[in-house]
Amino acid sequence: MKRTLTWLQVTSNQFHIGNYFGAIKPIIDACSEEDAEVFLFVANMHSYNSVQDWSLRENTLNTLKLYLAAWVDPEKVFIYNQADVPGHAQLMRVLTSLTHMWFMDRMHAYKDKSGKKKSNEISVGLFTYPILMAADILLYDATHVPTGKDQKQHVEYARDIAGKFNHQYGETFVLPEPIIAQDLWVIPWIDGRKMSKSYNNYIWFLDTDEELSKKIKKIPTSAIWIEEPKNPDECNVYKIFRLLLTPEEDQNLRSRYEAWGLWFGQVKAELIEKMIEFIWPIRDTFQNISDQQVIDLLAKNAPRANKIAEAKIKDVYEKIGFSL
Ligand code: ADP
Ligand code: TRP
Repeated sequence: MKRTLTWLQVTSNQFHIGNYFGAIKPIIDACSEEDAEVFLFVANMHSYNSVQDWSLRENTLNTLKLYLAAWVDPEKVFIYNQADVPGHAQLMRVLTSLTHMWFMDRMHAYKDKSGKKKSNEISVGLFTYPILMAADILLYDATHVPTGKDQKQHVEYARDIAGKFNHQYGETFVLPEPIIAQDLWVIPWIDGRKMSKSYNNYIWFLDTDEELSKKIKKIPTSAIWIEEPKNPDECNVYKIFRLLLTPEEDQNLRSRYEAWGLWFGQVKAELIEKMIEFIWPIRDTFQNISDQQVIDLLAKNAPRANKIAEAKIKDVYEKIGFSL
């Protein structure tokens, strides 16, 4: 049985189309596979490393509303809240004892995230987050973990530590497989950098039609003559547009680029129209989902998540000699 585990961060409530195509679309695709289960958890214990005020709650409500509005079907995806399940912290504590310092020192994502900050500006939680991440994965017998390249090392660590535990105590954990999103899904923006909250260069789902249209008009295009054929793969307007097209529409647009006489202003106008068509149902549904609906969904799912986690913790605690 394939069980895919994925997460959502609640460090912000600004959810952009890069996040949609990089994070939500793969979840929707995974759900369409037969005989596959998809688990999605709110990684609020991770987000707490950087967000330590009331916005954590707001971000959780709004991000979940956007996921639900953007066609994540809670009948097909099992959505739960990490902090509702004590097993995450319990398993993390066990793994902390089994993980050596030299290994943690090699974790590059921690180095990237902490940057040039001094040790009095970064939390121990950030340093140990790969261990919590391994617990998130191993608690639920996840077989597949889709992630960006930056997180591959962490999934491999989860796999290693699971193997080490199994070797010492007998079969306990399923070894997870990292599924690395292809570069194809890195959505670019104006400056050619990736669309990201960190660069403040994104289209997000709550942009008004006017804001959205202004942003698209600002995408720079090459100074090629209208008459000359153009390479769609070098054009950021195309790279965004193609995400919204069927394969036939995509082929058609490519041929228009490669033929003579394509005007970028026209393509941008078409992209604006298509983007509005794509975004408005999501925006509309988002506004109609109440806080209570989100709260109820998490409350409904907590017992099942706890049931799975408690069984795993019981097994672990018995094997290591905590429970007699
Ligand atoms: P951001 O860079 O905006 O802060 P996050 O790092 O919070 O985004 O990423 C949340 C999710 O969205 C991750 O799964 C990430 O792979 C995906 N994602 C973010 N930006 C992009 C992008 N430009 N293209 C594709 N996927 C993206
Ligand atoms: N650490 C991941 C990140 O920063 C998020 C994450 C937490 C995660 N737990 C996980 C990803 C479990 C996959 C599986 O992006």
